[in-house]
Amino acid sequence: MKVLAIETSCDDTAAAVVLDGRKILSNIVSSQVPIHQKYGGVVPELASRKHIESIVPIVTEALEKAKVTLKEIDGIAVTQGPGLVGSLLVGLSFAKSVAFATGLPFIGVNHVEAHLSAIFLEEKPPKFPFIGLVVSGGHTSLYRMDGFGKYVRLGQTRDDAAGEAFDKVAKLLGLGYPGGPVIDELSRTGNPKAIRFPRPVLSRNSLDFSFSGLKTAVVNYVKVHPEPPESYPKELIKDIVSSFQEAVVEVLVKKTVQAAQRQGLKRVVLSGGVAANQRLRQRIKEDSLEQKLKVYLPSPSFCTDNAAMVGMVGYEYLKRGMRSPLSLNAFSNLPL
Ligand code: KG4
Ligand code: ZN
Repeated sequence: MKVLAIETSCDDTAAAVVLDGRKILSNIVSSQVPIHQKYGGVVPELASRKHIESIVPIVTEALEKAKVTLKEIDGIAVTQGPGLVGSLLVGLSFAKSVAFATGLPFIGVNHVEAHLSAIFLEEKPPKFPFIGLVVSGGHTSLYRMDGFGKYVRLGQTRDDAAGEAFDKVAKLLGLGYPGGPVIDELSRTGNPKAIRFPRPVLSRNSLDFSFSGLKTAVVNYVKVHPEPPESYPKELIKDIVSSFQEAVVEVLVKKTVQAAQRQGLKRVVLSGGVAANQRLRQRIKEDSLEQKLKVYLPSPSFCTDNAAMVGMVGYEYLKRGMRSPLSLNAFSNLPL
């Protein structure tokens, strides 16, 4: 089954053609970073307008790259939420129109579920059950995953998402948008022990996260230095970001390992844009080895937003005969 997948939940216009939910025939991502960069974050109205411009060329490119025409497609999968509603509506309306015009089966996909399932695009995916951590610009949640559609949420952030914290700290230090990749890069040569930022772990029993206090600690650290962050010596910037990154990574790794221990599971899967972070990947591997857990990390390009992961999930549901009605709506807070 060849599935045409579309993803427009935030600031990337993405389309893919996926064979039998596993083999990627094409996977095109058009980033809007240059548009939003000067505002230091995604401007929702600009994002939806850009999706409208990009959707036809990107879907056309995905079909061409996969060397298929719409006639050879067997189903359509599209992100229904969560995300920016204006952005979601562009992809969803487009997908519904194509489904209506061609009569192809169509299914709406949860973006968080797509992130958590991106690992199945890899050569050696895990067997269920496992612990799934999704860490992106909008989400930081831990799930117990027993099968497709069989998920129990074990914890989530009570305030900022981890990626949001990366983006806000980068903005504060004048490092541009998105913050995650810049902080990742600068941290490689910074000292993670230079500044002891708080590790927000809430209570010992909770698998919830909280990152706003850590962000405030960085703000307060910057405040005591009278000069603007742009004029800081490069070494100080590196030390601040690597110390901040270390605090985020430590909390994420600790809670993920705790979740596996409490659930008695031996496999953990990371997903979402922040899962592309080098330090997080290194630390989760080290701690998992120590705790005798097996860790599964999607390639960085499957961590950040893409349509292949949407095609993967869409296939699982389409093959079970599930369909969405053409009246399907987009929801910014679609739960999983
Ligand atoms: O999954 P994603 O592409 O979109 C959402 O669903 O949010 O995640 C984007 C987030 C941004 O906050 C970005 O700064 C962060 O992921 N990110 C990273 C890295 N690459 C992207 N954070 C830390 N290290 C990275 N290498
Ligand atoms: Zn995402």
